[in-house]
Amino acid sequence: MAKTFYVTTPIYYVNAEPHIGHAYTTINADFLARWKRLDGYDTFFLTGTDEHGEKIAQAAARAGMEPQQFVDEVAAKFKKAWEILHISYDDFIRTTEERHKKVVRQYLQEIYDRGDIYYGEYEGLYCVGCERFLTEKELVDGKCPDHGVEPELRREGNYFFKMEKYRAWLRDHILKNPGFIRPERYRNEVLSILSEPIGDLSISRPKSRVSWGIELPWDPEHVTYVWFDALLNYVSALGYPDGERYRRYWPAAQHMIGKDILKTHAVFWPTMLKAGDVEIYKHLNVGGHLLADGRKMSKSLGNVINPFEWSAKYGPDAVRYYLLKETPYGLDGVVSEAGLVERYNADLANDLGNLLQRVRTMVIKYRGGVLRKREPGEGEAGVVAAASGLADRVRGLIDELKFNQALEEVLQFVRSLNRYVNERAPWKIKDEEDLDRVLYTVVDGLRTAAVLLEPAMPVKMAELRRALGLGELSVADVSGWGGLPDGHEIPAEAPILFPKIETKNKQQAGREEEEEERTPTIQYEDFAKLDLRVALVKSVEKHPNADRLLVIRLELDGEERTVVGGLAAHYQPQELVGKRVVLLANLKPRKLRGVVSHGMLLAAEGADGTLALLTPDREVEAGSKIS
Ligand code: MSP
Repeated sequence: MAKTFYVTTPIYYVNAEPHIGHAYTTINADFLARWKRLDGYDTFFLTGTDEHGEKIAQAAARAGMEPQQFVDEVAAKFKKAWEILHISYDDFIRTTEERHKKVVRQYLQEIYDRGDIYYGEYEGLYCVGCERFLTEKELVDGKCPDHGVEPELRREGNYFFKMEKYRAWLRDHILKNPGFIRPERYRNEVLSILSEPIGDLSISRPKSRVSWGIELPWDPEHVTYVWFDALLNYVSALGYPDGERYRRYWPAAQHMIGKDILKTHAVFWPTMLKAGDVEIYKHLNVGGHLLADGRKMSKSLGNVINPFEWSAKYGPDAVRYYLLKETPYGLDGVVSEAGLVERYNADLANDLGNLLQRVRTMVIKYRGGVLRKREPGEGEAGVVAAASGLADRVRGLIDELKFNQALEEVLQFVRSLNRYVNERAPWKIKDEEDLDRVLYTVVDGLRTAAVLLEPAMPVKMAELRRALGLGELSVADVSGWGGLPDGHEIPAEAPILFPKIETKNKQQAGREEEEEERTPTIQYEDFAKLDLRVALVKSVEKHPNADRLLVIRLELDGEERTVVGGLAAHYQPQELVGKRVVLLANLKPRKLRGVVSHGMLLAAEGADGTLALLTPDREVEAGSKIS
């Protein structure tokens, strides 16, 4: 029987139209789903929309619409968006569907009957943006760190789920299963939440205040709390409790989420499952956020990127490739249109597209389109070695969620094919067999690359295959050199795969850079431009790709920052945690070996080159301004 794989995206709130954050999470999940299918897994990919709760009811009211009509319209926009981006979901669940509501009622009743739900009064700080009560500890300067607003103090009679009862069990499960929550920084964050009481979870809202939700089966005066309702989509869509899909796929479940909804997925959801005596999911994969111009995207800042505009201009596969390649999964990433164009031109138009063009032209010109398989010789050793085990290396990286590195691995291979063509210079080869050998080797290599890049660029890679006369292939078809049959023929006509995108001419760009680089004498106003802040070090890790660097996560002023610094020779990561340091906060974000650094820490350099970080000499709050 085929191995199974089940992957989900968060179900998106329909109070906002699809934006790049939704697209990013969904593209990551789609990449994984497509890869697994191609790698022989029986795969199920679920996405959908989260349509109940106060936030949605408010949005519908603002739009002057009935909630149902409103959610129908926005859900349709999500479906359309995923069609544009070639998202290959197997099912799209909406929480207003009867199949879902039925499971929520059934599950609540089950837990209620087991004695894990009780009625009580609760007073707490509620954030409508998060749709949950926040603890004092989660607030930054009295505000919700994700939405920047003060939560409301609310007191109401609610039903509670005995979540605290399962804390010890959950902590133990996470400790025993290191890969349960990944990447590791998020696992540590959850362990820290679980090191103190988590309390019980309010799972209902009085209808007098929120009516847009699923009624509790035993008390029609209350509706289900939106997160309790939403999380169950992951099983309701599979036909829990006895559907065939549920039996088949649930044991292989992996959730892909953004870091903003870690607590609900890593704490609420597993304890809910445990209470219902349901096996918990296999992995929680947590992605970072995308930032525009180094800042969080928000409507009020006016820096929201529209991926559908990019897609209309450069094609959906270019957007998919760029988002997957640009940011290491799990970390925040900075994206921009200029960045997309640069990546597209370098990797796709130059490295991949040109190679295809060149080799097609030669095969048609020298061989009338027909390839002859000739055993590789010494000249092929490099390419043969690079092709051997390539699919395994890519698989290994994808299994570790290193999607950007997996794509880079394939691109490195494509670059090695380019070097091979240049070295072997087929246009100079006199020996007929040798010419066959070179042409075959390049086309065979491109065939491998097309398969391994297909999860990122499904439509373009199908076009690439067609340009080489190839049909559908799977990962199993591309192990090492020589998968292409002897006598294979490529078609005479094929469109250009990745036409180069024209940018400003080089001279003009160069002049602009020089302007920027000149350092004028400093005036006070210049100094005042520096946003220097005290920041608190939350966690530190070694940089995945550079020995010299540390990746430092900071907190300041309700915001989280990642800074990459050349401190590895001077500090052990653990030494820095809890320190208050000085951050140049408004430095333009920069990518250092694949990780975006958003600011710079100030340090003094001793005569022997040792670095000493600056710290305030008495305790001041993180975020305090330095002048
Ligand atoms: N409805 C809940 C999820 C319920 S799942 C049972 C929700 N929806 S949401 O519409 O707010 O979407 C949340 C997800 O969108 C985030 O977890 C994240 O995956 C993605 N993103 C939203 N903004 C983002 C960025 N700026 N960057 C990357 N992803 C972010 O929360």
